Amino acid sequence: MCKTPLDHTLGEILTRKGISRRSFMKFCGAMTAALALPAHYTERVAAAVSAAKKPVLVWLEFQDCAGNTESLLRASSPTAAEIILDVLSVDYHETIMAAAGHQAEAALKQATAEKGSYLVVVEGSIPTKDGGIYCTIGGRTALDIAQEICGNALATITCGTCSAYCGLPAAAPNPTGAVGVTDAVPGITVINLPGCPMNVVNLTATIVHYLTFGELPPTDQFGRPFFAYGSKIHNDCERRPHFDAGQFVEEWGDGGHRAGWCLYKMGCKGPATYHNCALVRWNEETSWPIHAGHGCVGCSEPNFWDTMTPIYRRLPKVPGFGIEATADKIGLGVAATVGGAFALHGVASAVRAKVQPLQKSQIIVDEEDAS
Ligand code: SF4
Ligand code: F3S
Repeated sequence: MCKTPLDHTLGEILTRKGISRRSFMKFCGAMTAALALPAHYTERVAAAVSAAKKPVLVWLEFQDCAGNTESLLRASSPTAAEIILDVLSVDYHETIMAAAGHQAEAALKQATAEKGSYLVVVEGSIPTKDGGIYCTIGGRTALDIAQEICGNALATITCGTCSAYCGLPAAAPNPTGAVGVTDAVPGITVINLPGCPMNVVNLTATIVHYLTFGELPPTDQFGRPFFAYGSKIHNDCERRPHFDAGQFVEEWGDGGHRAGWCLYKMGCKGPATYHNCALVRWNEETSWPIHAGHGCVGCSEPNFWDTMTPIYRRLPKVPGFGIEATADKIGLGVAATVGGAFALHGVASAVRAKVQPLQKSQIIVDEEDAS
């Protein structure tokens, strides 16, 4: 009897596609690193991914800008084609699938016919106000679709802050009553990959974790996997030595900005944001927001946008230093004594070893301290 595509293992499919062993091992090495696993796990990841069957995956887009789809399509390692065709098997994705209208809806029905047999990615928030009429597809509300498709899925992966925590559409006064998947479909298995947009490395690594260990990766209290959201931007930032040395950009384009100094005083929310952007970067690992010269806006935190704006107003305090230290105090301390700088660095290092999840109350911006 002939094998259908779903009967083949990923190893067989990749071989048939001409993906070399070398490229495959490079991919597995990158995934092992992204999952923060020791390097020797690469062989185990490779064996598991080779032997696995392609998981059926459908991608739902609701109230969104398609930025996460853009992120998916800009993937280079593996390429978008490899992810879509060989690893993830995206069986339904309105924006990139050839089918449209009734054909597209039929594809969704077919892919999700068997309860518990597929994964769902959701991009975009779900409006609930006025019966959910602000986002409809094929005559059905996003809320109705999410409740059926996510409700019957093996698991749901939210891609981007809008589907995870409702994001920008929910910015005050939240005119459409936008919510994230967890609130729209309570009680289902959800893993959140927030970000504006999410980094496709984290999506692929989440799937690879599932294929390797048979379960989704462990998460924090906000449903985010630790491997991607276990540490603050501030802890891994390349400008961190300048923060510790009290060297801050005071004005866009000044000498400090040109020299790559810390962007804290320009409103960087890195000290209050958990994400691995500094480590996995974007565009073939060439850059990320802070490397490009702009502060982090905290796009992956719950309640972004409201708690992270105004974007260029600085956080008044840096959570997690034992004592709350303002940037000015850090600068003064460095000027007073070099030993002080070493002491502060020691505190910071200790903090890096024990990161505590951010509470919403920690990121309320103090009007008086804004510069
Ligand atoms: Fe980097 Fe921002 Fe922290 Fe400065 S405040 S070290 S730019 S994350
Ligand atoms: Fe967002 Fe900050 Fe990363 S703005 S993309 S969490 S650097």
